[in-house]
Amino acid sequence: MTDDREQLTRLKKVLADRPPAFPPAERAAFVAQYFARREEFLAVAARHGSPLYVLEPAVLRERADRFRAAFGRVFPGLGVYYAVKSNNCPEVARTFLAAGLGLDVSSGVELSLALSLDAKDIVFSGPGKVDAELDLALGHADRVVVLMDSFAELERLQRLAAAAGVTVRAGVRLTTDPRGLWRKFGIVLDRLADFFTAAAACPNIRLEGLQAHSSWNLDPGRQIAFLAALGKTLAAMPAADRAKIRFVDIGGGYWPEEGEWALDAATPAGQLERLLNLEGPYPPAGPFRTPATPIDEFADQIAAAVKEHLAPHVRCRICMEPGRWLVHRGMHLLMTVVDRKDAALVITDAGTNAVGWERFELDYFPVLNLTRPSTVETPCHVLGCLCTPHDVWGYSYYGADVQPGDVLLIPTQGAYTFSLRQEFIKPLPRLATI
Ligand SMILES: Cc1ncc(COP(=O)(O)O)c(C=O)c1O
Repeated sequence: MTDDREQLTRLKKVLADRPPAFPPAERAAFVAQYFARREEFLAVAARHGSPLYVLEPAVLRERADRFRAAFGRVFPGLGVYYAVKSNNCPEVARTFLAAGLGLDVSSGVELSLALSLDAKDIVFSGPGKVDAELDLALGHADRVVVLMDSFAELERLQRLAAAAGVTVRAGVRLTTDPRGLWRKFGIVLDRLADFFTAAAACPNIRLEGLQAHSSWNLDPGRQIAFLAALGKTLAAMPAADRAKIRFVDIGGGYWPEEGEWALDAATPAGQLERLLNLEGPYPPAGPFRTPATPIDEFADQIAAAVKEHLAPHVRCRICMEPGRWLVHRGMHLLMTVVDRKDAALVITDAGTNAVGWERFELDYFPVLNLTRPSTVETPCHVLGCLCTPHDVWGYSYYGADVQPGDVLLIPTQGAYTFSLRQEFIKPLPRLATI
């Protein structure tokens, strides 16, 4: 009985609890920035066709500089490795390389890309690396540090390195959460000392670093909690092993400061309403914005945690593998209205195969009608051209009207879209650089 009442109280709390609203004035200010550059975007659509990915290398350079400034201030000798998986467009990786970043790759395909771009400083992480991938890394051991994922991978890497007559620099990935699905990554902290012992028996492997990564961090809480746990583990390890640690790579996972923009369907309250078959408010609540910690504060708080938990035990370089924070603002999607079924239902020439997942059923991103600009947001189903209803770009648009032939822009689609795009029904958008 008490359990039932407790459950009911919890359900009521979830239903009553939504993130803060994304204020309309701030949404309008966001779209105004891009409407101000309307001619430039319309010109690129006219030149390259539609649908189109539009890349802005200048934005990527600015992000790389800002990220390095934030963390370089607190970590002398900082290493920043761009996580290629977040956007595998070669031009993106090339831009970050030219800006002086290293590359973080997670497969043979990504490693081949990095090598083809002449990257000189590469970290290769990821579970389930196959022999051919490890061999590729060993063939370029002067440029690649292998971040090992398990004891078995250590043994395999030793065998392959001995066969190739190579000594390889390596690190080991540590599990940040030993429960649930994240346990697939790395080794648990309790086995770190054993790993150093095992690696000492591998003459072709120079174990010189640690790596950990947790994702989707709106604030540094999870990263700091892990650093505290790592500090305890290091304190208990033999000093001779600690002295071998030349780098600690604390991964990526920094959320851009604009915060997380969500539709009601993505909130626990919205999800629960759907499960309970409740109508929910109409029009749906939202959009919402959950704030994210600005990058300078991320840096200050992580630096304080490193000072408290790691510095007493190791003197080493700090490295990072940001993806989303660097690329999010650097790429946009352009598309054209093909069909207008009524004033509040239009179909575009792009399908969400262009981004590879049903992002816009959950995430909120403004759709801008560049042809008829206005900072007024009008409710409308803006849908793609695939033969599936799960093909949504948005539930509204910014514009004075919407008609066939109008060019629409969805800004800031740089992270986890381009690299997830897939051949499904419609061709992939082309790519243009401005
Ligand atoms: C090992 C590793 N490093 C870095 C990243 C980049 O994370 P983010 O794009 O959230 O910064 C990922 C993303 O999945 C990852 O798996």
